[in-house]
Amino acid sequence: MNNINRIQLCQYLFRSLDVPEEFDGFRFIFICDIHHGRCFPAKNLRGLVTLVNAMKPDAILLGGDYVDHDPECIVTFFKEAARFSAPVGVFGVLGNHDRRTDADLSLECMKESGITLLDNDAVWVERGGERIRLGGVGDLWTTTQDIRPMLKGTRKEDLMILLSHHPDFAELLPSDKIDLMLCGHTHGGQVSFLGKWIPPWPGSAKHKYLTGIMKEGDTTVIISNGVGTVGPPVRVFAKPQIWEITLKREAEVPIQ
Ligand SMILES: [Fe+2]
Repeated sequence: MNNINRIQLCQYLFRSLDVPEEFDGFRFIFICDIHHGRCFPAKNLRGLVTLVNAMKPDAILLGGDYVDHDPECIVTFFKEAARFSAPVGVFGVLGNHDRRTDADLSLECMKESGITLLDNDAVWVERGGERIRLGGVGDLWTTTQDIRPMLKGTRKEDLMILLSHHPDFAELLPSDKIDLMLCGHTHGGQVSFLGKWIPPWPGSAKHKYLTGIMKEGDTTVIISNGVGTVGPPVRVFAKPQIWEITLKREAEVPIQ
């Protein structure tokens, strides 16, 4: 069984002059690939929600794959996830597991839980007369991706944060306006050799987008290892992660 005490907290300061002054220090948690099911039961989920709420983020972003394959788990997942609490709100996209298990039920339960769905949609988050754009696209494997709602009414200098369950969408980004893209899906390989070589498995993405932080054009792409597992509850060189990202109004520092 996956143990939430093993989760690694990855902290990242996202520096950009597109960060409005009012959002300097804005802090959010990004969580994905929880895969609630036999190997990540409701008890763990409850612990995870409590852990994240205790960090008192301004917002919570969810990157999809909330369940493994059991429709009943969709109901229990969103019942527990309704307790995620942040002043600006809780936002998320669906992953391939959510859509393949039961897309309609996932959408219905997500709505009931009070989590804002960002699949092919976007919102402005406002603070003190300034605003940032937060949006998402549908999962690359199981539905369509439409980034037009995200781009609507935006300027290059707006800070734009995009959620995409699948990281390979980074290569398809039709715009250089996206500042930060948050993804999961890969589990960091889940079982890899020294975090580099992974055996072929159905969830694999291009190795370019296996884990960590990288640049695709003007966009900073963060790929989380996620929290849960698919198949056996084993992770090798791919620790479970949640990300704490703080926005900083400062010139960008090149990624090493
Ligand atoms: Fe996935």
